[in-house]
Amino acid sequence: MFVSLLVSALSVLCPLGQTSLPLVVNTWPFKNATAAAWRTLQSGGSVLDAVEMGCACCEMEQCDGSVGYGGSPDEYGETTLDAMIMNGNTMEVGAVADLRRIKNAIGVARAVMERTDHTLLVGESASVFAENMGFIAEDLTTNKSLNIFTQWLKGNCQPNYRKNVFPDPSMSCGPYKPKATLNQRKRVAQHANTRSHDTIGMVALDQNGHVAAGTSTNGLTHKVPGRVGDSPIVGAGAYADSSAGAATATGDGDVMMRFLPSYLAVELMRAGADPSAACKTAISRIKRHYSDFFGAIICANTTGHFGAACNKVPGFSQFHYMVSNSESDTPLMKSVDCI
Ligand SMILES: *[C@@H]1O[C@H](CO)[C@@H](O)[C@H](O)[C@H]1NC(C)=O
Ligand SMILES: *[C@@H]1O[C@H](CO)[C@@H](O)[C@H](O)[C@H]1NC(C)=O
Ligand SMILES: *[C@@H]1O[C@H](CO)[C@@H](O)[C@H](O)[C@H]1NC(C)=O
Repeated sequence: MFVSLLVSALSVLCPLGQTSLPLVVNTWPFKNATAAAWRTLQSGGSVLDAVEMGCACCEMEQCDGSVGYGGSPDEYGETTLDAMIMNGNTMEVGAVADLRRIKNAIGVARAVMERTDHTLLVGESASVFAENMGFIAEDLTTNKSLNIFTQWLKGNCQPNYRKNVFPDPSMSCGPYKPKATLNQRKRVAQHANTRSHDTIGMVALDQNGHVAAGTSTNGLTHKVPGRVGDSPIVGAGAYADSSAGAATATGDGDVMMRFLPSYLAVELMRAGADPSAACKTAISRIKRHYSDFFGAIICANTTGHFGAACNKVPGFSQFHYMVSNSESDTPLMKSVDCI
């Protein structure tokens, strides 16, 4: 009796999350996206609405050329989009990959979640689904993406992500055929100084402890057509569980998706890890195998505490991300030193 009185007195004196919820956190200094998500929460929208609006803002603004239309042309010169949204209360997920001709990839991801029993739709069929759901089909190519593509062709298609094919992909445009023997080939380095930022990943929490996460990207420039990165893969690009927290990752998706860093970070927070520590462990796990991978992750727990971590490589020693919570009216940029 006495103990329970003491506990309830404490919870009045020191209410959990008083200063830190609601919360929006996203990768890179994509401030307008943070503001769009925050406004959505403030005007009564759900955390899913916030994540959708935040990512959609980046899709419209073509954040850094790495989200939305007109960026990252593949080997054919086409821009394709990957996106995911996850509801941390119900564990529902909707995702699209290799989506063509539709600008609002996060919107289509949400439609997959809400209008099918599936989790992930890909390629042409995802575009047909989107059109049926009322999304407008339009060309995602712009003069800018066309220019990136023609410069790449002129430069003998470098960088080039193929290996163990002939003619030698380090100096030709193919068409490629498989080589009889497999050789080790150094991975094409994807350091921050040679590429733009690559994904918006966003996490939102409301005052009731409802958590959501989402991503949107146009992937890797000059990728082999059909390539899907980490962003639309559950537990890789993002993960949300209202009983533990949420995380979202950005960087060299081909490597990062092999380690499910967002899932790992959320499980570490469930076990009591501080968000920064959970993020660091998720990065270290990848580093053990790929010491020079380019990547970062942000983590938030259910009380609205957050952190981030990144892998230090040439040209990338600090990662910037955005935060909105009740402590400030405008989104704040945060930085973390890479490990
Ligand atoms: C952010 O929004 C402001 C105001 O609408 C706009 O002027 C600015 O260009 C936007 N930033 C980016 C990077 O698009
Ligand atoms: C794209 O390039 C074409 C021809 O080079 C030009 O007519 C057009 O105005 C350009 N569009 C934009 C949006 O710059
Ligand atoms: C979230 O992380 C903070 C900072 O480490 C910690 O004080 C808090 O207890 C954590 N919340 C939960 C629910 O674990």
